[in-house]
Amino acid sequence: YKKYIPFKQIDLPDREWPTKVITKAPTWCSVDLRDGNQALIDPMNLEEKLEFFHALCDMGFKEIEIGFPSASETEYEICRELIEGNHIPDDVTIQVLVQAREHLIKKTFEAIKGAKNVIVHFYNSTSTLQRKVVFKKDIDGIIDIAVEGAKLIKELTDNYDGDTNIRFEYSPESFSGTEMDNAVKICEKVMDVLECTPENPIILNLPNTVEMCTPNTYADQIEYFIKHLKNRESAIISVHPHNDRGTGVAATELALLAGAERVEGTLFGNGERTGNLDIVTVGLNMYTQGVDPELDFSNLPKLKEIFERCTNMKIGERQPYIGELVFTAFSGSHQDAINKGVKYCKDTNSDYWEVPYIPIDPADVGRQYEPIIRINSQSGKGGAAYVMEHNFGYELPKKMHPEFGALVQVKCDELGRELVPKELFEVFKDNYLEH
Ligand code: KIV
Ligand code: ZN
Repeated sequence: YKKYIPFKQIDLPDREWPTKVITKAPTWCSVDLRDGNQALIDPMNLEEKLEFFHALCDMGFKEIEIGFPSASETEYEICRELIEGNHIPDDVTIQVLVQAREHLIKKTFEAIKGAKNVIVHFYNSTSTLQRKVVFKKDIDGIIDIAVEGAKLIKELTDNYDGDTNIRFEYSPESFSGTEMDNAVKICEKVMDVLECTPENPIILNLPNTVEMCTPNTYADQIEYFIKHLKNRESAIISVHPHNDRGTGVAATELALLAGAERVEGTLFGNGERTGNLDIVTVGLNMYTQGVDPELDFSNLPKLKEIFERCTNMKIGERQPYIGELVFTAFSGSHQDAINKGVKYCKDTNSDYWEVPYIPIDPADVGRQYEPIIRINSQSGKGGAAYVMEHNFGYELPKKMHPEFGALVQVKCDELGRELVPKELFEVFKDNYLEH
C-alpha cells in the first residue's frame, strides 16, 4: 500500500494533535452472510452465499459469520455445504450465530461438525428497554439466560467429538442501551462459566444494535467496559456498530481509539435498517492515513459487481470510495487543481498522493482517472483542455483555454447535458480545424 500524507502533519498551534491515531488494523469479521443477508428482501441462495464467501476469503477476511444455522433448514444446509464441500480455507474461521437457547445451541453444534475452526457466537438482549418491553425480566433473569447458554456451550464443547477448534463469542445484544455495570457483570459471569484465559480468550462483542447516540458516547461505553472488566486479558473486545444515525463509521473509529480490537461489519454497509458498519470505508480510511488495513481493496469494482449481483442491492453514487461519482470533479477549478496535483506527483515521483480534491489514488482501488474530468457547463476551461490533451494529444496553448472553454459551455447548454470526449473534439474540430 502507498504512503499517504496523514492529516496529522497539519499542526494545531496550541497542542499535540491529533491526540490519538489508529495505528493498526483490527481483526475484521464480516457479517455479510448473516446480518447483511438477513436484511435482504431476497436472501442469498446457496450459490450466491458461496460466491460471496469466496470473495470475502479472497479479500483476506479470516473470520466470517456465515449465518444462523439453527434458524432454518436453508441456513443449516448452507453451513453443511461450506464444511462438506471443502470451501473453507484452513486459515479462515467460520462464525455461527445462535441465541442463548438450548435447542438452538444443540442444533448449532450439529451444524458445525467437521469444520476446522469455528467461533460459536451466542447472544441475548440485555438493554433496559428490551428487558422491560420484550422479556419482562429483571437483570438477574437476563444474566441467567446468558449463563445457562454458556454452561450448555461449555458442556457441548468439552464433550465434542471431533477435531474442531472451537472458540467462543458472546454478545450482550443492545449493549449500548444497557447500564454499563450490568454489561460488565453479565460478560464476567459468562467468562467464568467458559473458563476463559489469555491463551483461550473469549470474544466479547459489544453491539450498537440500534445506533441512538453520538459516536463518542459509544466509544465512551467501550472505554468504560474495558476499564472495568475483570480478567480483561482473557477477552478480545469486539464492536458491532449499526448505522441508524449515519455515524457507524465514526463510531467504529472512535471505538478503536477507545481500545476495541476487533470489528464486525459488512461490505458497503449492508445490514438491518440503515445497515451495519461499512468495513470498506473504515478500511480505506485507515489506508489513507498510511495504515495497512490488511484487507485487499485493490479491485473494488469487482467486489461491487459481486455485491450487487448477490444481494440485488445498488450501491449509491456517492458511497465513499466506490460510488460512481466519487472520483469525478465537475467544477473547473477542482479539475485544474487535480491536473496540477497529478502532474506534480509524476514530475516529483512522489511516494505520496498529493492531489487536491481526490483523497486517494483511484488506481489503488481498481478505478481510473478518466472519469475525473466531466465536460459540462460547470467544468470550465481547464477540464476541456485536459481532455483535449489526454484523450486526443492536442496540447492547447494557455491563451486559447478561455475561448475554447466558452465554446464548450455553449455546446453543453445547447444540448442540456455534459459532453462525451468525442463531442468535445467535434467542438474543437468545428472551430479550429480546417474542413
Ligand atoms: O446488532 C446486533 O446486536 C446483532 C447481534 C446478534 C450481534 O447483530
Ligand atoms: Zn447486528
